[in-house]
Amino acid sequence: MGMKWADMLRPIVCLAPMDGITDSAYRQLVRRFNRDVVLFSEFTSADGFLRSEKVRGRLDFAAEEHPYFVQLFGNNPASFAEASRALEQAGVAGIDINMGCPAKKIVASQHGSGLMRDVDRACRIVEAVAGACGLEVSVKTRLGWTDSTGLLDFARALVGAGASLIAVHGRTYDQAFKGAADWAPIHDLKRQLAVPVLGNGDVESLADGRAKMGNLDGFMIGRAAIGNPWVFHPAASAAPLTMAGRVSVIREHYSLMCRLKDRPRALVEFRKHLSGYLRGVSHIKSMRGALMTAPDEGAFLRLLDALESCEAPIAQAS
Ligand SMILES: Cc1cc2nc3c(=O)[nH]c(=O)nc-3n(C[C@H](O)[C@H](O)[C@H](O)COP(=O)(O)O)c2cc1C
Repeated sequence: MGMKWADMLRPIVCLAPMDGITDSAYRQLVRRFNRDVVLFSEFTSADGFLRSEKVRGRLDFAAEEHPYFVQLFGNNPASFAEASRALEQAGVAGIDINMGCPAKKIVASQHGSGLMRDVDRACRIVEAVAGACGLEVSVKTRLGWTDSTGLLDFARALVGAGASLIAVHGRTYDQAFKGAADWAPIHDLKRQLAVPVLGNGDVESLADGRAKMGNLDGFMIGRAAIGNPWVFHPAASAAPLTMAGRVSVIREHYSLMCRLKDRPRALVEFRKHLSGYLRGVSHIKSMRGALMTAPDEGAFLRLLDALESCEAPIAQAS
């Protein structure tokens, strides 16, 4: 079920792709808080997708996740083309290409941010996907390698190769996650580019995203959504104010995860989310430690029962 970025309602609000976070369970949970938010998969290797059943399984999705976009990384145009054809058959809304990941092992093999320094290959990947299937191709990238001077030329080349949307995280490769995201070069880019542009970096809430986006077509929320799926709720003050309310979302999330993964693995993977859910909750120091290291599901669920009845203060979401 391919979708056209140009046809989507503005602002386009997206759950940013996050490895280890935006799996199908989390995406389904986010969908329950907002029926329009655009969902992205975790980044997934195009070569791995072709080679491994397990990697393909990482991109499975439920019907209610639509619009659901898959983000692929890699550097071999032919692998992207083949993976995209299969994903079109599977019914995803579109293909996004990762050209922003700064992880050393990704960049060293010319994937992710590495493609910002190999414009020719970056364009051949976009062309390969656009030519292989009827899905639109977007690219998620950064401001540049050390500064944003090359952003416009890079984006123009990608659009020339067939990209239908450019999403920009307002930091350079060099910065990784340091410093504040700079949205000014993204606003400049939008003024000169014919396709929709999304901004990303440090958005804390829907209102904050709307304030930051200015002339852009929309924005992505990443870290502020970890342990905070209600950030996407259209009502500004939707965050549960009681511990019981928060625990009920934690339980819902955990049970969605258990449907997709075996339980011991779900318990360990859930810790990444749990630390987010417990952010801003004070006076539960010992319980936080116990929850994060619960040896088995029984112990974890008993601790959740105890947490539920806790009157711990929760910091107001911004
Ligand atoms: C745990 C984690 C995993 C991430 N994984 C991906 C990924 O798979 N693909 C991607 O394009 N960006 C990834 N990112 C970057 C985010 O999508 C986003 O660009 C970045 O976090 C800045 O946005 P934020 O300030 O809203 O978090 C990841 C970020 C985090 C914190």
